[in-house]
Amino acid sequence: MKLMHVDASPKRERSSSRALARYFLDRLGEHMPLEIDYLDLALVPPPHVTEAFAIATYTPEENRTQAMRDILAPSDALCRRLLAADALLFAMPMYNFSIPSAFKAFIDQIVRTNVTYKVGPDGRYVGQLARQKTLFITTRGADLRPGAAFESYDALTPSLSAAFGFIGVANPWFVDAQPLQFADQEARDAALRRARTELDSVASAWANEESVAA
Ligand SMILES: Cc1cc2nc3c(=O)[nH]c(=O)nc-3n(C[C@H](O)[C@H](O)[C@H](O)COP(=O)(O)O)c2cc1C
Repeated sequence: MKLMHVDASPKRERSSSRALARYFLDRLGEHMPLEIDYLDLALVPPPHVTEAFAIATYTPEENRTQAMRDILAPSDALCRRLLAADALLFAMPMYNFSIPSAFKAFIDQIVRTNVTYKVGPDGRYVGQLARQKTLFITTRGADLRPGAAFESYDALTPSLSAAFGFIGVANPWFVDAQPLQFADQEARDAALRRARTELDSVASAWANEESVAA
């Protein structure tokens, strides 16, 4: 399986999202050979949208100048990497109840007209990443599970669902590890155990789907 793995935490060895992503890949790798295309957004931050990018991206391809093509080149390259993958793994911390800014910049580079989504003759938007199995691993300091104090604050899951739904990722998997910071040690350990159990299940589900498709 060709899998694109994107880490977004600025933390390195101390990062829980990075550790959980590695855990998942180890489990998945027990079921099938993996060809991993790795992107570390802390080391290679995607460019932010500029005025030139905003104009270039909505200029029809045949009318683009060389300067416009150049400004879109990093985004084109990221889109190619996503489209070439069979599966996508995105790991990130929750920051201020939403997406960390590096990952938001990444999203702004990969949601592209006529590349990752197309508009059909009937005016319907057709996302191009419908083929890719997709897993989001998110780590949260607080507890935002149903019934917990911060339940209503989760702006991360809807943002990811909307942006990736638009480019064709209809039913992604989410494994949300919480609470990992603003809780006692016992609760943090339990949160990591729950996340690992869920990741075991996702790895098995992906392996089963692959064997059925083969
Ligand atoms: C700038 C910043 C903002 C944060 N905002 C939130 C937040 O809104 N809600 C939350 O539950 N945790 C928040 N946290 C805690 C992190 O989400 C948590 O520690 C997570 O486990 C970090 O993942 P990582 O170790 O992969 O970086 C924040 C942490 C930082 C540094």
